[in-house]
Amino acid sequence: MLTPLGFRLLRRLADGEVHSGEALATAVGMSRARVSQVLKEADSAGLRLERIRGRGYRLHDPVPFLDRDAIDSTSSELNRRAAREDVHRRLLIAEWQTAGRGRRGRGWTAIAGGSLTFSLGWRFEQGAGFLAGLSLAVGVALARALEAAGIGGVELKWPNDLIHRYCKFGGILIELSGDALGPSLAVIGVGLNVRLPPAARRGIAQPVTDLATIAPGRRLDRNLLLAGLVRELTAMLERYAVEGFAPFIPEWQRRNAFRGKPVKIVLPDGSAASGDVVGVDASGALVLDHRGRRLRFVTGEVSLRRP
Ligand code: BTN
Repeated sequence: MLTPLGFRLLRRLADGEVHSGEALATAVGMSRARVSQVLKEADSAGLRLERIRGRGYRLHDPVPFLDRDAIDSTSSELNRRAAREDVHRRLLIAEWQTAGRGRRGRGWTAIAGGSLTFSLGWRFEQGAGFLAGLSLAVGVALARALEAAGIGGVELKWPNDLIHRYCKFGGILIELSGDALGPSLAVIGVGLNVRLPPAARRGIAQPVTDLATIAPGRRLDRNLLLAGLVRELTAMLERYAVEGFAPFIPEWQRRNAFRGKPVKIVLPDGSAASGDVVGVDASGALVLDHRGRRLRFVTGEVSLRRP
């Protein structure tokens, strides 16, 4: 029989390299004699373990043990799974991502134990046009769930940041696949900072915050938070599938941190425009007022323009 300790040792040996008895003993906090004894379990587990005199142990055939922590990005992984299985309503959560992805090719920093990172698959009968406002509706659902958990002051920044006092604490990454007219699959990736240590903040090139700062003194149970977030998301998605973005517009406007504010918007080609934020339209586009003229944007990076 393979014990948990035996498995821990074998995991260390999984790379097929020679590991000394001393190094293994230090790694698991046991004596070398105990390591030698536990490693007898390898034979009963059907693994060929070589004992090399004076050097240590080596697994004859390296074993690619399944590692439930080894997820590069919940969204990348769910997209891969979508190629071979139906991921509608499938939720993939990671404690830790080795390559979390943000919008526009940026990375996403998450802290093991201090973040919530997950992706949810959702199939729609409609195509990309109908789903243009989806990321905004996701923001509304997340804000509702956080508010229900007692975290007040959550605001939205177009197109899909969760912010508090102009500091970002959550991001949404929507990836669509399928036909332009439908059906389509949305992989909805969500990252939230629950407790972001100062060292991690320093590595992020924009003002950031976390839920612990927004709601000081509140017990932030990530399991409970996650349950509430997924509940709200699911309810929103069921409604969106029928009615689209329209029913969520008033709430998005109410939570819009930049409502009426003078902003600058930088477009993907590097050009910029400015105006006062009017709000969003039924397709999720940002509407600015520029000297009495309405400007509509479907993409871009918004920042406050100091008067
Ligand atoms: C952004 O604001 O740029 C979007 C960030 C989205 C991050 C989440 S974390 C879970 C999911 N998996 C990823 O790789 N990215 C999203």
